Amino acid sequence: MKLDEFLSALWKRYVQIAPSAGKIRSLLEARGDTWVNDHIAFRTYDRSPIDLEALEPHLLAFGYKRYAPYAFEDKKIRAYGYLHPEAGRPRIFLSELETQKLSVGAQARIAELTAQIDAKVVGDPLVLNAGLLWQPPSRAVYQELLQESEYAGWVAANGLCANHFTVSVNELASFESLEGLLEFLQTEGFAMNTAGGLIKGTPEVLLEQGSTLADRRILELEGEATEITTCYVEFARRYQGFEGFVPASADKIFESTDSKGP
Ligand code: NI
Repeated sequence: MKLDEFLSALWKRYVQIAPSAGKIRSLLEARGDTWVNDHIAFRTYDRSPIDLEALEPHLLAFGYKRYAPYAFEDKKIRAYGYLHPEAGRPRIFLSELETQKLSVGAQARIAELTAQIDAKVVGDPLVLNAGLLWQPPSRAVYQELLQESEYAGWVAANGLCANHFTVSVNELASFESLEGLLEFLQTEGFAMNTAGGLIKGTPEVLLEQGSTLADRRILELEGEATEITTCYVEFARRYQGFEGFVPASADKIFESTDSKGP
């Protein structure tokens, strides 16, 4: 599989479960702007066969290289950023939940999900776009996981897919600032993640970011229609060729899928 096909498949699923992303893209393109991806982010559990170590070889096979590790102690998440040597390729941010740091009960719930994974599907890069690799959990299990770790609940209900695509604000011709872009989108009716402020980061840390609040959809959880959060859109403006991520900002961006709101 070629990288372009992989990225197209990710985008297709993403706009299906997060229609706001398609609407934002249309709004930008109507202004003559081009949607260029700064990065694409994934979430997973640190459990075989879908831990970071198992998924990373797919990124490396597409030509990506590890750039830098990141740790989010409070959220019990670790991650790597990946860069591609070809110009114009999106960065990738792959994170995993450190499930051993959760309660024994939550670990058991997650183990019940990952035990259902067909190991064969993990050998294909499209496992990163497969959605649920297990039967949807019951609503009680979903809520139990959410309570303990919003990230744990999100993966339980969404499985593997692009958690967000990120628009490169540097590449937008019609906006001079991230603030201007976010204000425009708010005027257009999109709800923004305000955890840690509307804009995370500063020119001094070489990266400014903002994001929408995730879209929601109804999922049947053992016959109970339940509203879950899906994906969101992030916006990033980089300074001086900075290639990495800023943990304090990314920590707040994770909260874009928190159904309780920031
Ligand atoms: Ni991001």
